[in-house]
Amino acid sequence: MDSSSLLLLSILYLSLPISFSQKPNALVSPIAKDPATLQYFTKVYQRTPFVSLNVVLDLGGRYLWVDCDKGYVSSTYRPVRCRSAECSLANANGCGDCFSKARPGCNNNTCGVSPENPFIRTSTGGELATDVFSLPSTDGYKPGPAAKDPQFIFSCGPTFLLKGLASGTSGIIGLGRTKVAPPEQLAATFSFQRTFAICLSGSIGVMFFGGGPYVFLPGIDVSKSLIYTPLLINPVSTAGTFVQGEKSAEYFIGVKSIKINEKAVKLNQTLLNIDQNGVGGTKISTVNPYTLLETSIYKAVLDAFGTALSKVKKVKPVAPFGLCFDAKSIGSTRVGPAVPAIDLVLQSESVYWRIFGANSMVAVGNDALCLGFVDAGKNPRTSIVIGGYQLEDNLLAFDLARSRLGFSSSLLFRQTTCSNFDYTT
Ligand SMILES: *[C@@H]1O[C@H](CO)[C@@H](O)[C@H](O)[C@H]1NC(C)=O
Ligand SMILES: *[C@@H]1O[C@H](CO)[C@@H](O)[C@H](O)[C@H]1NC(C)=O
Repeated sequence: MDSSSLLLLSILYLSLPISFSQKPNALVSPIAKDPATLQYFTKVYQRTPFVSLNVVLDLGGRYLWVDCDKGYVSSTYRPVRCRSAECSLANANGCGDCFSKARPGCNNNTCGVSPENPFIRTSTGGELATDVFSLPSTDGYKPGPAAKDPQFIFSCGPTFLLKGLASGTSGIIGLGRTKVAPPEQLAATFSFQRTFAICLSGSIGVMFFGGGPYVFLPGIDVSKSLIYTPLLINPVSTAGTFVQGEKSAEYFIGVKSIKINEKAVKLNQTLLNIDQNGVGGTKISTVNPYTLLETSIYKAVLDAFGTALSKVKKVKPVAPFGLCFDAKSIGSTRVGPAVPAIDLVLQSESVYWRIFGANSMVAVGNDALCLGFVDAGKNPRTSIVIGGYQLEDNLLAFDLARSRLGFSSSLLFRQTTCSNFDYTT
């Protein structure tokens, strides 16, 4: 993490435990990007007395889990009993025992879940628990007094599950479609709208729990001009470990075709649908730094993009990318390098997610600009995984009550960015 992100994350919200908001309409939290791992992480407050924790974002994860093995001290920690209401809320019914000295993460007769680290594809057993949890409230313009959930449900994880995570982080915040993930849980605790939004940035972005406004300097309310597409349910869990019949907690959308320079790329349509085994389709992920495409889609998109830019000098591709251009031969625009737009066409021809140069082209060294898509191989579980780089400076609002995604398209068009939330109090 560069020193500016560290500094920002450490100076934000110093006032947190001092004053409390009883009835927040929304909560806010900064999202930083770790340059070493390209992971996005945020800061949450937990325990008594409060500690602040950096936790990595996993948009499709099922709940918050934190390392409880190392230094978990809190007078308000409570293990969740097996067969309790909280345990069924987490869609878990296993009873766990622990054959060592009782401590947070090690108690008898507790509700067992499977915290997961998707970055190293590992999941393990963990104790479900509750503790105090806090984030700053917001009116959508600025952070306000902290809001406190006295019994926030999360899972304990072991220290080894932190492997592969950005340094200085102590768990993963899953924002997936479950009742215990923070979006639903916080909406229930504070009775605010069952919506949350992420706005990723190469520097410091922002996340909101609750409905809009979502305002960025100089006073642009992005919540007012979103385009909506249905969120689709994948009937089969995509998690590492799951219970029979569990649906995927990840966010899928219905991409019907891909256009480059407004011309449809020929694709195998079967791959774009989610089949009864949960294979295929398109999901949004903060785990993958770049968009992944199934091999035949990848090849077709690269071909079409290369053809549309046939007049521009190509250079040797730099892994993991497969198509790179001489950076000096491409001009620039307000929305990044001047390259053909890539449209993900959704429920109708008139509804599409347009990817401009700022989100499609990745600068590699000083000389190359590469198409920021990666080959996912021949039989991936999900055909299209829209990754972090393609999401940056686009606000995504997940409306869970109406099961739809609102997306802003590039904020650069509106002369703002995801790093323009006003954190000054
Ligand atoms: C759980 O119960 C077992 C068997 O009674 C006991 O040996 C163990 O110490 C207990 N563990 C905790 C964490 O209390
Ligand atoms: C399209 O994809 C499906 C699913 O992978 C595959 O079974 C089928 O053979 C493909 N069709 C063509 C024409 O390649």
